[in-house]
Amino acid sequence: MRSAASGWRVRPVSAAEVWPIRHRVLRPRHPLECSRYAEDDLPGARHFAAFHGARPVGAASVYHEDPPAEFIVPGLEPGQAWHLRGMATLDEVRGTGAGSALLRTALTQAALAGAAVVWCKAGAPATDFYRKHGFQTLGEEFEIPRIGPHSFMYWVKIGHHPIGDNAVAS
Ligand SMILES: CC(C)(COP(=O)(O)OP(=O)(O)OC[C@H]1O[C@@H](n2cnc3c(N)ncnc32)[C@H](O)[C@@H]1OP(=O)(O)O)[C@@H](O)C(=O)NCCC(=O)NCCS
Repeated sequence: MRSAASGWRVRPVSAAEVWPIRHRVLRPRHPLECSRYAEDDLPGARHFAAFHGARPVGAASVYHEDPPAEFIVPGLEPGQAWHLRGMATLDEVRGTGAGSALLRTALTQAALAGAAVVWCKAGAPATDFYRKHGFQTLGEEFEIPRIGPHSFMYWVKIGHHPIGDNAVAS
């Protein structure tokens, strides 16, 4: 496998190309159909895969979607947020940089599309990974039935100033 030092090739793909990776990593005991998310049909949905040669080894998707009402991100206005879902890399490449390359691409592309904030519901084992990439946690850990503990996490685009910043005396 390619090392983190040499970099991973990440490129946009169709939703159908990320389903097998989601299935293998995130929902292996469910039918492939369960790896298709309702959000995949949203206008503007973007999907990315990391490749080792021609073989996809990781996936991530972003959707133009506000956080659920119970998660109030400071300074976020309606329509400014993108939702990150389906972050997954195959076991055999974990820790070699594919996940980071995918996440950087997803964040960059969301920001270019107008995102001020990118949010996700991070599974407990992945929160440190997101934290390393600048995400912060909002609120308490919560349980997603049959999946496990999660935290709401969000990333703020550099240069995005929460509402009220202008009011601070200089
Ligand atoms: C989370 C995930 C996508 C990260 O992908 P990856 O290919 O391992 O990521 P990288 O190789 O770029 O790792 C980047 C760094 O995060 C660390 N890291 C990766 N996964 C981690 C985890 N689960 N917990 C803590 N640290 C983690 C790596 O050790 C590495 O640290 P370093 O930069 O100090 O060396 C991958 O572990 C995965 O698919 N996990 C199972 C599915 C999952 O939990 N998805 C997230 C759902 S919210």
